[in-house]
Amino acid sequence: MTKRTFHVWRGGGEGDLAEYEVEVNEGEVVLDVLHRLQATQTPDLAVRWNCKAGKCGSCSVEINGRPRLACMARMSTFQPDESITVTPMRTFPVIRDLVCDVSFNYQKAREIPSFTPPEGSEPGDFRMAQADVQRSQEFRKCIECFLCQDVCHVIRDHEENKEAFSGPRFLMRAAELELHPEDAADRRKISQEEFGLGYCNITKCCTEVCPENIKITDNALIPLKERVADRQYDPLVWLGSKIGLR
Ligand code: SF4
Ligand code: F3S
Ligand code: FES
Repeated sequence: MTKRTFHVWRGGGEGDLAEYEVEVNEGEVVLDVLHRLQATQTPDLAVRWNCKAGKCGSCSVEINGRPRLACMARMSTFQPDESITVTPMRTFPVIRDLVCDVSFNYQKAREIPSFTPPEGSEPGDFRMAQADVQRSQEFRKCIECFLCQDVCHVIRDHEENKEAFSGPRFLMRAAELELHPEDAADRRKISQEEFGLGYCNITKCCTEVCPENIKITDNALIPLKERVADRQYDPLVWLGSKIGLR
C-alpha cells in the first residue's frame, strides 16, 4: 500500500479541484481509488460507473487532461511521484463532481434516420458479404462512452458548434448505414448539411481515445467524406441539381 495525491473536481460547472491523499494498492485502477475516497473521505463524491470492466461506458472522465475510462486506467501506468487529476468530461455540462449531462449525445442519436431497407424487401431476402458484416461489427463495438465526442475539438471548445455537428460517434453511425449494402436511404446530403461532416478535419483524436479501438476516422469518417465528395463532384448530380431533379 502507498499513498498518492489525487486532485478531484468537486462541485458543478463553477466547482474547483480538491486535493486528497489516498491509499493505493497493487493492481488498482483509478475507479478503485475514487471508490476508496467515497468510502473514507468524501462520501458525497459523485462518480458514474457500472460494470468496472470497460464495457458499459459509464465511467468516462478526464485523467490528467486525457479522456479515459476510470475503470481501465491502471494506477501502475502513472509515475510513482505523479499527482493524478480527475475531472469531468469538458465538452458536456457538469451536473456534480465527475458526473456530466450527456443528453446532447442522445439528441444527436435521435436525429439519424434509422436503417431503411428497400421497399418490398423481406427478412431473409438478403445475404451480406463478410466484409460488410465486419465493417458493421467494428462500429457496433461502441459502448457509448462518449469519449470521442468529448475529445473532438469541433465541440470541445466551441459550444456554438454543437447544434450543427453531431460528433464522431454519430457520424460513424451515419457512415455505417451509408456503407450498408441493404440501406436504401441516401445519407450523404444530410451527413454534410445536417450532421456537420464538413466540420471534421480528420485530426483523429476521436480514434486515439476510443477504448474499443474502433478506427472511427479511417473506417467511418473518411469513407463517408469520400462518398459525399463523389456525390458533390458527380457531373450528373451537379446537372440534376441545376435542373431541379435532386
Ligand atoms: Fe466511446 Fe469509441 Fe463509441 Fe466513441 S466510438 S462512444 S470512443 S466506444
Ligand atoms: Fe473530430 Fe475525430 Fe474529426 S476528433 S475533427 S471527428 S477525426
Ligand atoms: Fe463500465 Fe467503466 S464502469 S466502462
